[in-house]
Amino acid sequence: MTHTDDHTDPPAAGEIDWDVEAAGFDDEPDHGLRDLEVRAAWAARLRSWLPEQPADVLDLGCGTGSLSLLAAEQGHRVTAVDASRAMADRARAKLAGRAAAVLWGDASAPPVGERSFDVVLVRHVLWTLPAPDRVLRHWRELLRPRGRFVLVEGVWGTLDPVGIPADRLTTLLAPLSADIRVERLSGDPLLWGRAVRDERYAVVADMGDLKD
Ligand SMILES: C[S@@+](CC[C@H](N)C(=O)[O-])C[C@H]1O[C@@H](n2cnc3c(N)ncnc32)[C@H](O)[C@@H]1O
Repeated sequence: MTHTDDHTDPPAAGEIDWDVEAAGFDDEPDHGLRDLEVRAAWAARLRSWLPEQPADVLDLGCGTGSLSLLAAEQGHRVTAVDASRAMADRARAKLAGRAAAVLWGDASAPPVGERSFDVVLVRHVLWTLPAPDRVLRHWRELLRPRGRFVLVEGVWGTLDPVGIPADRLTTLLAPLSADIRVERLSGDPLLWGRAVRDERYAVVADMGDLKD
């Protein structure tokens, strides 16, 4: 799937077979992070979004595990979840030898038992899930009292765009967090390996005030 191409319309989320996508997934610059400049750009953003101290990070819909690996390299303990066995296998291989575990399961209801986390990290996944408001409420329950969402999303395509606009996501997050920051990412071609025109952003939402 080439959802990073803003000149064509990508398929709807339900039409994508992620097991089939897995083999070529890392060919996209922002997926595989093979280009050192692209990788460094994501590493810098991630460092700014994640806590300074080593944290327990839950990467949901981890794909081939590229962001999980960056987080592990930055000293965090990572639990990664994906519903595609082919993606999870690739993530497991990428994260071998790191403080990381890769689980096969549904991001909407991650198979983590009673565990809780400092960060729920999700890139390019929430838009594929039915009922994102319900999913966000569940993810909130997986966070420790002062936990954080790091959600990297966007809107792809022109004629029939798919994705979730930042305004909608912040509206969904408003009942859960009083501290929501949107960082626009479209203007940084280093993140994507090229210039892009569509909407790309990260939301960093800190928990605490509403529930403590
Ligand atoms: C666009 S890819 C993003 C992968 C990764 N987060 C990244 O940024 O490189 C979407 C990923 O979400 C996974 N996914 C889709 N629906 C899922 C679900 N309900 N539960 C877990 N993973 C899911 C797919 O298998 C795929 O690996």
